[in-house]
Amino acid sequence: MDFERIMDRRNTESIKWRLFPEDVLPLWVADMDFRSPSAVIDALHQRVDHGIFGYGAPPADLAEIVVNYLERHFYWKPLPTQISYVPGIVTGFNLAVRAFCKPGASVLFNTPAYPPFFGAPKSAGVPYVTNPLQRGSDGSYHIDFDLFEKQIQDERVGMYILCNPQNPTGRVFTREELTRLAEICLRHKVLICSDEIHCDIVFDDHQHIPIASLDPEVADNTLTLLAPSKTYNIAGLFASVAVISNPEMARQYCDFRNGLVSGPDLLALTAARAAYLHGDAWLKELLAYLQANREFLMETLASELPGVEMHRPEGTFLAWLDCRNLNLQPDPQKFFLEHARVGLNCGADYGPEGESFVRLNFGTQRAVLEEALKRMAAALAARQE
Ligand SMILES: Cc1ncc(COP(=O)(O)O)c(C=O)c1O
Repeated sequence: MDFERIMDRRNTESIKWRLFPEDVLPLWVADMDFRSPSAVIDALHQRVDHGIFGYGAPPADLAEIVVNYLERHFYWKPLPTQISYVPGIVTGFNLAVRAFCKPGASVLFNTPAYPPFFGAPKSAGVPYVTNPLQRGSDGSYHIDFDLFEKQIQDERVGMYILCNPQNPTGRVFTREELTRLAEICLRHKVLICSDEIHCDIVFDDHQHIPIASLDPEVADNTLTLLAPSKTYNIAGLFASVAVISNPEMARQYCDFRNGLVSGPDLLALTAARAAYLHGDAWLKELLAYLQANREFLMETLASELPGVEMHRPEGTFLAWLDCRNLNLQPDPQKFFLEHARVGLNCGADYGPEGESFVRLNFGTQRAVLEEALKRMAAALAARQE
């Protein structure tokens, strides 16, 4: 796959490429600028060429294919009967909040957080509590377990929404961290809804561990949401997977969504099947390309953008840039948009800990990344003159 090939995405109904004026390089929303694996494109062509698009059902072998993928990639082997499909992860966790949160219970999640984590409890009328990730002296992010447990006790927490790998910090939580989280949740009967959408994008020797794979008791207390959407760049198709091993939870989730939220459409599931079946080699190349982008970004920040700090993300194609030293006005997102013509995500949208941060998506061609960084460096330099 030629990841260097620049694709024109304007006029393709891409949310990323049409939010800002034409002269802005958009490195914000989390999809990539690469074509999907050819096996995915071919499978979609074949299905479209058939020409009949009546009501679909998930491909009969899809659950088996998903399970084999999870075993191959994460050493996790749920049963095919524990697999169901949802049209997007955001839908999946919004449903979970509504299906499982009892009156008076609250939802807990770590911050900075993917903005829809705030929206899910808010729109369901459920209170939420945030557990800020702590920063080590090297800028790394860690969970404050004592605070986590105290909040669970004090705030009547009923559900913990875990994000692993974590958006926006890029943390890939270790087995030790996940085990502690799972133990605390089990001890206090807090259900875990684990958003693992970025599960495939991990670097170096980091390994994604689905929290439900720790042991059967944890699995029975967990709803896991994952998808081929980020990995194979098919986010616009909304094919996502829910894994629920506890039959009572599965029934409750299924009853709640029944008639409200259907499964992903037949093209979405066609693409998901092809990705999970034939995507491994492509993914390997993608990870090498993204990792090199990450290194290029680290080096360029250090040499050309003094004052912008980033702790090397362990996973995801998202960089969480700390601009607090620079006092960029009115905030870094607006500063880089106005003066560099680069479109980033505003850190404050991820919670108060994100003030004066921006999120940069490096899932793009090196040349695009290089140009964006050049523009950002020039904007900073001009400001100091
Ligand atoms: C942590 C996380 N969850 C969910 C999503 C979006 O999921 P979907 O588009 O399938 O609803 C994103 C997209 O950026 C994300 O980063």
